[in-house]
Amino acid sequence: MEILINYNEIQNKIHQLAKEIDNYIDKIQSEQEETDIVFLCVLTGSIFFFSELVRNLKNDVLTEYIKVSSYKGTQTTENVKILKDISIDITNKVVFIVEDIIDTGLTLNKIISLFKERNPKELLICTLLDKPSKRLVDIKIDFCGFVIPPEFVIGYGMDLDEKYRNKPYIGVLRGNNS
Ligand code: IMP
Repeated sequence: MEILINYNEIQNKIHQLAKEIDNYIDKIQSEQEETDIVFLCVLTGSIFFFSELVRNLKNDVLTEYIKVSSYKGTQTTENVKILKDISIDITNKVVFIVEDIIDTGLTLNKIISLFKERNPKELLICTLLDKPSKRLVDIKIDFCGFVIPPEFVIGYGMDLDEKYRNKPYIGVLRGNNS
């Protein structure tokens, strides 16, 4: 195991992202009629990132959770399943989808198509990590923490078969070529 991004680096980045997002929300709220802002946590991997991010926002936001499954071990199955959907209506709301990591982009692509059909005012993508080298679909990322090399990472919410989520850092497991 090798530490790729340590706890302090993660915290500093999240504080910086929260400021950028607050500025963005301030801007849209001043330009148009006051709109509900929804932060959507993509369970389970983004849970630490999501809670730290929303905790640092100055604006009031609604929080919702979606659970999807697409990975087995270190390989994507390309078969993205929605295991838990949200319970609120997002019509005319500004929705931030919060991901831990975007790799092939297949998971997010599925979530984006599902949510676009529900007519949000705006759909924005925020991810802690971007692994662009293995992208299979084009995704426009609005807010990104770190761009990382094509290696399988664990920690800060991310797992390998449910292990390592509780590590306070982001690490690389050597011997996995994902
Ligand atoms: P994608 O569909 O390939 O973009 O993968 C998205 C999801 O797969 C993420 O939300 C993670 O849950 C998981 N994932 C992708 N790469 C990694 C990794 O390096 N470590 C842990 N989980 C990963």
